[in-house]
Amino acid sequence: MGCRLLLLIFLAMATRRAKCSDPDPLQDFCIADTANPYGLFLNGQPCINPARAEPSHFKTSALASPGNTRANPFGFNVTLTSTKNLPGCHTQSLALARIDIDVGGTVPPHAHPRASEVTFIVRGVLLVGFVDTSNRLYTQQLLPGDTFMFPRALVHFLYNIGSTPALAISGLSSQNPGAQLSSLATFTTKPAMPDEVLKKAFQITGQDVQRMRKNLGG
Ligand SMILES: *[C@@H]1O[C@H](CO)[C@@H](O)[C@H](O)[C@H]1NC(C)=O
Repeated sequence: MGCRLLLLIFLAMATRRAKCSDPDPLQDFCIADTANPYGLFLNGQPCINPARAEPSHFKTSALASPGNTRANPFGFNVTLTSTKNLPGCHTQSLALARIDIDVGGTVPPHAHPRASEVTFIVRGVLLVGFVDTSNRLYTQQLLPGDTFMFPRALVHFLYNIGSTPALAISGLSSQNPGAQLSSLATFTTKPAMPDEVLKKAFQITGQDVQRMRKNLGG
C-alpha cells in the first residue's frame, strides 16, 4: 500500500516535471531584449489588470460578415479571432476562423506553424486536402455538415468545387496560428528570394520567375 502511494506520488511529480517545458511560441520569433529596463517578460502580449476585466472582452462580432474575397487573386477570405478583436482569447490556445470562398476560388496551399485545424462546412461544396511529410496527398469532398481535420503544420488547401459561394468555420489550436502560403512564401518575399534559388527549386527559367512574381503581386 505504502509502495503504491509512493509510486503514485512519484508519477504525479514526474507528470508535473514533464509539463515544466517552454511554452509554445506565440510569435514567429522572440528576440531577447537583454536591455529591457522594465523587468517585463512576455511571450505575446501583456495582460490588463484582471480587476479591469469586462464580459465584453470575451465577445466579438468580427466573424459575423464575410471578408473581401476580391482582395487577393485566389477568391477567398479568412476572418480570424485575435487579441485585437477578442482580447479575452489571449493565452487560451484557441482561434476561430470564418472562411469564405468564391465559386472556383481556393485557399491556396498553406501551413499553420502553430496550430492544428478542424473545419466545419456551413455552405457549399469543398474539395480539401493536406500533404504529409512523405508527400502523400489526402483529399476529401465536403458537403454542408461535414468536418475535416488538418494536422498541425502540414500544407493544406480548400477549393470551392460547387456552384455557390462556400462558407466554412475552422477551430485552430493556437490564439495565433500563423499562416504561410506556399506560393507567396516563395515568390513574393521581401526582400525577394534569389532568382537562382527559385529557378533551381521549381526547375523553371528566369522569365518564369518574373511572371510568377508579377502574377502573385510580388
Ligand atoms: C480579407 O478582407 C479584408 C477586408 O474585409 C481585407 O482587409 C483583407 O486584406 C482580406 N484578406 C485577404 C487575404 O485577401
